[in-house]
Amino acid sequence: MAWITKNSGTARVEHRAEPYLTPAMQADLRARVLPRYESAKGALLLVLNEVQHAYGWLPEQAMEEVAAFLGLPAADVLDTASFYEEYWLKPRGKHVVGVCRSIACEFCGQSRLTQAIKDRLGIEVGETTDDGRFTLIELECLGACGGAPAMLIDETLHECVKPEDVGTLLAAVKDNHPH
Ligand code: FES
Repeated sequence: MAWITKNSGTARVEHRAEPYLTPAMQADLRARVLPRYESAKGALLLVLNEVQHAYGWLPEQAMEEVAAFLGLPAADVLDTASFYEEYWLKPRGKHVVGVCRSIACEFCGQSRLTQAIKDRLGIEVGETTDDGRFTLIELECLGACGGAPAMLIDETLHECVKPEDVGTLLAAVKDNHPH
């Protein structure tokens, strides 16, 4: 969880011609999701989930469209989306490498592991490689403390990872892996 402070007053939202929240998506949400909630606000997380599932992240234009669809201030949508780490406010790479930074993994060499990945990919935490293949993030406890340091590559858990294992693990990632 993180508080993000930025100057929204002068921020510019990139717009494309076609909507992210398409008429078909809106019709589906009206039929399937909205009736389950007393207020539009209650449905916000599920609507954001749908958009992220469709595009892999939440573009600002999409958040504006969600706000208009639900009749909410755009600021409320951005506040919500930026509060949860699970929402991606920037495009992510085809594969997400997530290293646990919680205490057991920290004690067992997480920082050397993260450094090895940064060196291998040539990026910092939170960045995506130029070819769009890998995004590196840090995660809180993965529930695999007995196998610290632990990391996820997409949905696959790797335990007791040594810095020298990083090259082999990343080389084994297949690009046809479904998100
Ligand atoms: S602290 Fe890393 S998996 Fe629990």
